Amino acid sequence: MKRRVLVTGGAGFLGSHLCDRLINDGFDVLCVDNYYTGTKANVAHLIGNPFFEPMRHDVTFPLYVEVDQIYNLACPASPIHYQHDPIQTTKTSVHGSINILGLAKRLNARIFQASTSEVYGDPEEHPQQEQYWGRVNPIGPRSCYDEGKRCAETLFFDYHRQHRLEIKVARIFNTYGPRMHPNDGRVVSNFIVQALQGDDITIYGDGMQTRSFCYVDDMIEGFIRMMESEAGLTGPVNLGNPDEISMLELAETILRLTDSPSKLIFKPLPTNDPRKRQPDISLAREKLSWEPKVTLDDGLRETIEYFKKMFQTFDPALTLP
Ligand SMILES: NC(=O)c1ccc[n+]([C@@H]2O[C@H](COP(=O)([O-])OP(=O)(O)OC[C@H]3O[C@@H](n4cnc5c(N)ncnc54)[C@H](O)[C@@H]3O)[C@@H](O)[C@H]2O)c1
Repeated sequence: MKRRVLVTGGAGFLGSHLCDRLINDGFDVLCVDNYYTGTKANVAHLIGNPFFEPMRHDVTFPLYVEVDQIYNLACPASPIHYQHDPIQTTKTSVHGSINILGLAKRLNARIFQASTSEVYGDPEEHPQQEQYWGRVNPIGPRSCYDEGKRCAETLFFDYHRQHRLEIKVARIFNTYGPRMHPNDGRVVSNFIVQALQGDDITIYGDGMQTRSFCYVDDMIEGFIRMMESEAGLTGPVNLGNPDEISMLELAETILRLTDSPSKLIFKPLPTNDPRKRQPDISLAREKLSWEPKVTLDDGLRETIEYFKKMFQTFDPALTLP
């Protein structure tokens, strides 16, 4: 019999790729989403597949379904979206985790949490290892996301200690690829959209702050390996690409790959924006035999193709609230 898997946030960027992968791997997928930042278009190609079932539901309310495994991804991930309704963002991370952990407890199901590198805040340590506790501002505009995700991790570990629940916590670093939202303000999608439309490319600060970017297929491989890992491995495990690139270099790479005439313009850095962020993925290498394989140029080419097609065929389902 096929194993049944619940993916919360399944119509989002990462969630929809995870649904694709799980269906390919022979799972029966229940995709739960309230379409806050995800879109039906992301999973439209799966409609009609007998092993895919979409369900509109907000995880801040209890959910009663029967599944064997759970991936908890529901949560807006980009600053523009999570700051739009910060109270709902905290509720999604905290109440959402309580509800989905309660479900996992009732079913005795293994549960994966999509945590984030943002739990490290503006770190004093580079690269960040899992045992680093982070430096997070609890009262700033990013706190709804950062502290919500930190509290979600706390809940996962308390359910593990108190109820022996099998948890798998992954700390995800910046990921990019097809199905990123064009207006989500994330740097890769911003630069690509600006380059394809011939608009100025906006760089915040001096452009020397660095990030590392993991291609979505590599990230999804990491999720699956984490979920299928040995019983004692709870995480947190960092998943991301350790290759650092400055924002200036990224902009120049995208200009080259799109052959765009766009110019670079500079604007002030937003509040609490980290100068540097880089994962230490030694643990993922050791325990999951995982590391990113897709080069930045190859990943960007796929992503650019996706956005080109999107602009050629306007789809109203992609419009955000
Ligand atoms: N993409 C990244 O670089 C990245 C980095 C770190 C962590 N993450 C985490 O991975 C997960 C997926 O991120 P993503 O990039 O796919 O973002 P996304 O915004 O595309 O996907 C999140 C999905 O969750 C849904 N959602 C939001 N609130 C919900 C609620 N209350 N009930 C039900 N569904 C809800 C949204 O509609 C959307 O489909 C998130 O938890 C995010 O925090 C992503």
